[in-house]
Amino acid sequence: MSYGTTEPGATANATVHHVEDTADSQLGMQTLLDLANPQPRYRTLIEQGGFLQPMPEFALTFAAPLTEFVLRNHQVFSSRVEMHLGNVRPLIPLNVDPPQHAKYRKLLDPLFSPKRMDEQEADITRRANHFIDQFIDRGWCNFSEEFADVFPASIFLGLMGLPEAELKTFMHMRDGILHPEKIDPASTTDFERRAAVLNATGAEIYDYFGALIDERQKQPTNDIVSRFLAAEVNGERLSREEILDIMFLFMIAGLDTVSDSLTCFYAFLATHPDHRRTIVDDPAVIPAAVEELLRWESPVPSGPPRVATRDVTLPNGVEVAAGTAVIPSYGAANVDPTVFPDAFEVRFDRAVNPHIAFGGGVHRCLGSHLARRELRVTLREWHKRIPNYWLTPGHEQLEFPPGLRHVKDLMLSWA
Ligand code: HEM
Repeated sequence: MSYGTTEPGATANATVHHVEDTADSQLGMQTLLDLANPQPRYRTLIEQGGFLQPMPEFALTFAAPLTEFVLRNHQVFSSRVEMHLGNVRPLIPLNVDPPQHAKYRKLLDPLFSPKRMDEQEADITRRANHFIDQFIDRGWCNFSEEFADVFPASIFLGLMGLPEAELKTFMHMRDGILHPEKIDPASTTDFERRAAVLNATGAEIYDYFGALIDERQKQPTNDIVSRFLAAEVNGERLSREEILDIMFLFMIAGLDTVSDSLTCFYAFLATHPDHRRTIVDDPAVIPAAVEELLRWESPVPSGPPRVATRDVTLPNGVEVAAGTAVIPSYGAANVDPTVFPDAFEVRFDRAVNPHIAFGGGVHRCLGSHLARRELRVTLREWHKRIPNYWLTPGHEQLEFPPGLRHVKDLMLSWA
């Protein structure tokens, strides 16, 4: 699949790097690791030099200094790669290099600033409690399905000024891109079937947000799409295609990541009663607990590949040839002992925690303040109402499927 048309804001002769098997290389990364328990393997990979190049055009960085080098040298390591996610143009701003990238971040950053998230706090709190209300009296829940999946999607509906009734449509669009096997079970093994689901869902996403843009153009509100339509950067408005390419990325970047983090956090807390009790006894520890669990779990284990635009020498002296796709491992960098004392201990009392669970360099996560707010509010509201919980007997075996790090069907019980 090709992006085909030119990238908005890109120079006419700029190239999109065709990393033929981005999905395959990500899959290669998964098989290299123990999905349920990746940290010990990260340690070994770092001890062995923190760099692997299994084939000439594909490499992985594990040691924090190498990953930082790749992320911070965007002039050499380009993010203009195909994602194969049902999109027909590059995702904005993920697949855009500087200087165009800065134009988009200048516009987007204020919409996701900590101050804006303060304004969302009451709405986020209300939505968290709404979902807890649905199952608290029952004494158990499928946490993955009944809370983690729906809560971030519901927040997004709020940001877009859309009614709760749209939740199902949102979940369907999200699944069509990120969990195509839920739409067509054969797509797990049949790559053509998988591509068919992705492309059909991609078309649905463009249609859905295209209709929303038309509506907001006629009748602006104070939602995100209306703000995009009104926004100007350096005297220029965003085109319709640019808004669609941003919304497409939001569907991928803003929903699953928080859902996945929540399932990892709750699997950890349900099996580590001392950590759980620290949160219950002293809710002031929650912001530090969120940072530490983000570091330890690294729900986005690795980034999209960066393609070397010229021959380059890494800080460890290794030569990377032009055209090589380099995947930075955030999960490994987050347990690199050269950065973190007691790297393999989960400590809610770390004085400093320079984890890169949200990436690094110019593409550092746009939604980090929103994500943190959602995670902190959940931990606060949940532990107020359900302080004691555990893995439901018979469901102690946790399943961490490939993809972003997450627990499928995490079953929790409480008294
Ligand atoms: C705990 C939840 C989240 C995690 C762990 C996470 C992680 C990341 C990471 C690692 C990147 C860097 C990708 C790269 O290397 O190129 C990234 C980028 C991004 N994230 Fe998040 N993310 C989370 C939540 C969100 C949310 C809620 C949003 C909603 C707006 C969001 C929007 C984005 C966008 C738009 C980018 C691309 C930024 C750019 O290219 O300039 N993320 N995220």
